[in-house]
Amino acid sequence: MKAFIENLPKAELHLHIEGSFEPALMFKIANRNKIDIPYKSVEEIEKAYKFNCLQDFLDIYYQGASVLITAQDFYDLTYSYLQKCATQNVRHTEIMFDPQTHTERGIEFKTVINGISKACEDAKENLGVTSLLIMSYLRHLSEEEAFKTLAQSIPFKDKITAVGLDSSEKGNPPSKFKNVYEASIKEGYIPVAHAGEEGNADYVWEALNLLKIKRIDHGNNALQDEKLIEEIKKRDLALTVCPLSNTALQVVTDLKDHPLKKMMNLGLKVTINSDDPAYFGGQVNQNFIEIQKALNLTKADIYELVKNSFQYSFLDDKTKQIYLTELENYYKLNN
Ligand code: HPA
Ligand code: ZN
Repeated sequence: MKAFIENLPKAELHLHIEGSFEPALMFKIANRNKIDIPYKSVEEIEKAYKFNCLQDFLDIYYQGASVLITAQDFYDLTYSYLQKCATQNVRHTEIMFDPQTHTERGIEFKTVINGISKACEDAKENLGVTSLLIMSYLRHLSEEEAFKTLAQSIPFKDKITAVGLDSSEKGNPPSKFKNVYEASIKEGYIPVAHAGEEGNADYVWEALNLLKIKRIDHGNNALQDEKLIEEIKKRDLALTVCPLSNTALQVVTDLKDHPLKKMMNLGLKVTINSDDPAYFGGQVNQNFIEIQKALNLTKADIYELVKNSFQYSFLDDKTKQIYLTELENYYKLNN
């Protein structure tokens, strides 16, 4: 089963590039930029990476991201993640980045986007991994700040496919960002949002009805509301589920209690993703391996999840079909 999972061609649809920042690279970049970080060793970092909730994690995540200064730093961060994609048979990835985590510290928007997008171009050329970018607004900041970010993104519109919403969910409902989502959609960005990770089903309703999202990041708490489940199915929206993130942030107590299989049985379209792999104990393959074991998933279940990852990506239909055919051929030979 492990080899079956590892060799499957797959897509990742929920990944924060700042959350892929591995300790070794963090040390290297901090040194290069002559920035002190509050850890002396990888062991100290690992000790610090114990979280009780989303906010605990976010505090450490923003601190880690603060050593990123130059376009080269953003390039190295992104290319390093894309190399991991290549070794895991991730053929396509949809990468979230948080411009405000950096512009708030005085880093220019163009520095961030140029470094990240150059790494994406090089990875397509050198590694055969395709990618697209999701610019995520930080929901703990104001809508006005999000509007500033939207304006900064316009000269780089051709490099960005979608907008997302992340950071501290509770107390920052989707309704806070209704206007900036409307404006983002007018600019041609596809709307997605984190919803129902720590927030309740009402947050997911708002994301659907006010932000008009085309995909739900996490969405676990949608299960609280039967009408909502039906609405998600009616709109044919996929949920980008992140098992190891859910246990690391105590959204789910134990992987054995994870609602993934329940979601699938309800007819929801689900994908498996790593969220912030450097912080939550594993890349996407590790997420598949651990959730398969915990829930006793079959090869057919895994196939369905991986098929969804291409089907519900924002790739054009022709490229989707190429990947889906490759996947189908692999499954026929290895089932
Ligand atoms: N949830 C919300 N915001 C985030 C996350 C997450 O899992 N990762 C990075 N920003
Ligand atoms: Zn996330």
